[in-house]
Amino acid sequence: SPLHPLLVSLPKCEHHLHLEGCLTPDLLFSLSAKNNIPLPPPSEDPAFASPSTLAERYTAFTSLDDFLHYYYIGFRVLVTPEDFEALAWSYFLHAHREANVRHAEVFFDPQAHTNRSIPLSTVINGFAAAASRAESELGMSSLLIPCLLRHLPIADSHSTYTALVEGEYFTSGVLGGIGLCSTELSQPPHLWAPIFTDASSRGIRRTVHAGEEGPPAYVTLALDALDAMRIDHGVRAAEDTHLLTRLAAEGVLLSLCPVSNAALKVTKSVSDAPVRALLDHGVRFSVNSDDPAYFGAWIQDVYCAVQEAFGLTVGEWAGIVRAAVEGSWCEEERKKVLR
Ligand code: ADE
Ligand code: ZN
Repeated sequence: SPLHPLLVSLPKCEHHLHLEGCLTPDLLFSLSAKNNIPLPPPSEDPAFASPSTLAERYTAFTSLDDFLHYYYIGFRVLVTPEDFEALAWSYFLHAHREANVRHAEVFFDPQAHTNRSIPLSTVINGFAAAASRAESELGMSSLLIPCLLRHLPIADSHSTYTALVEGEYFTSGVLGGIGLCSTELSQPPHLWAPIFTDASSRGIRRTVHAGEEGPPAYVTLALDALDAMRIDHGVRAAEDTHLLTRLAAEGVLLSLCPVSNAALKVTKSVSDAPVRALLDHGVRFSVNSDDPAYFGAWIQDVYCAVQEAFGLTVGEWAGIVRAAVEGSWCEEERKKVLR
C-alpha cells in the first residue's frame, strides 16, 4: 500500500509486547553458548539443529500452547541481569529506530525465571536498566508489567504477586501494573480474582490476556471478576455484540495483535481480525506485535499487514493511534507530548 511509509513513521504506542518474545533464534543460540545452557538435542527435536531450522519451525505454530512450548524453552538461556538488559534494550532500540515507538508498555513473565532459580531482582533490575536507558538515550517512555502465568498452579501466582508487592516494585514505580497470560483454555480468569482484587485495592493497574483462544465469556469475567482495565487480544469479543457495546461504553482498550493471532491459528489470516467490527462499534484498540521474534513481525510490520488486509483511511489510522495514546497508562503530562 502507498500508506506503508506513513504507517512505519507514525509515532506509536505499543501496549502488547512480551520482552521474552523479542528473543530471536540467533540470540537464543548465542546465549545458550555463552551461559552454557543446553538446548534440546536435535535428536529429540530437529528444530533445534540451528537458528534457521528453529526460525522455520516458528512459521508452523499450530496453537497458543504449541508456541508456548518453544517460548518457555527460550527462557532457559536468560541468566544474568545483563542478559535481561540486553534483550529489553534490543527491543527499545529497534522499536525506536524502525517503528518510531514513543511509549511502550511491555510484559514479562517473572515466574518462568524464578522457577529456574533466577532471582526476581535479576530479572527486574535488568529490564529496568534498559527502560531507564531508553528514557535517557531515546526519549522513549515505558512501563514494565509482570504477567502471572495461567499454566502454573495458582499458589505460584500468589507467591510471586506477594514477592512483587513486598519488594515495593509497584509503589516505587519500577513496575507499572500487573497482567495475566499464557495458556487460556481451561484456565478461566476468575481463578485469579483474589490477586486482582487485592491489586485493585492497592491501585495497581490491571490487564488480562482474554478472548484469544478463550470464549467471549472470559473477556466478561476479566472485566467483572478481575476488574481488568485493559484486555489483551480480546479477538473473540467480536462474537458477542452485547460485549462490544459494553467495551465501547466503558472505553476499554483492546491490545490487538493480528499477526500473532494468524501465526497461532486464532484466526485464519490477518483479514479475519475484528478490525471492522471494533471500528463500527466504537471499541478502542491498539495494534501490537506480541512476540515479534517468534512471529517474524515487529510493530511496523503489523501496522502494514493490517493495512494490506483492511485498506484503512489515513483518518482511521489517526483514530487508532490516538486511541492508543489515550489508552496508555502514562501520566497526563506525557500524554500531552504523545498527542
Ligand atoms: N505469552 C506470550 N505471548 C502470549 C500470547 N499471545 N498469549 C498468551 N500468553 C502469551
Ligand atoms: Zn501476549
